[in-house]
Amino acid sequence: MNRNYEDVLKHVKGVLEGETDLIANLGNVAAILKTLPGFFWVGFYIVRNDILVLGPFQGPVACTRIGLGKGVCGTSWAEKKSILVEDVHAFPGHIACNPNSKSELVVPVFDSSGNVAFILDADSDELNAFDENDRIALEKIATYITDTLKVTA
Ligand code: SME
Repeated sequence: MNRNYEDVLKHVKGVLEGETDLIANLGNVAAILKTLPGFFWVGFYIVRNDILVLGPFQGPVACTRIGLGKGVCGTSWAEKKSILVEDVHAFPGHIACNPNSKSELVVPVFDSSGNVAFILDADSDELNAFDENDRIALEKIATYITDTLKVTA
């Protein structure tokens, strides 16, 4: 899918540069990403000790807690890497927070010590909605968040 990440990255950078509050920034990043075509649900899960808890997001009501290694988000957290899922029904253990989610891209956001602090989760109601360009762009955004917030575990 053709998405103008040049504008999105500029917008995200501008928003993050002027503010250091975590909730404000995560909320605005979710709002910016939600404007992109095919983004049905986008938001953050926050690592709280041994569980992911729902943070700022845009889209329908979602699951509030996800365990380590559970679903796509919990697997991304456990493996400390991005996961691109073309068809969620083909991902063993996928957590169906909303039946309309068909594909997703999940990216870890690290703190300054290299621990996962948040999980950025983008879900689409279309199959195969995300590709390597999306992964690279969302990983850049994750890096901006790490740099701006100077997140500590
Ligand atoms: N898709 C995620 C669950 C979270 S939501 O869809 C908002 C997963 O399997 O980790």
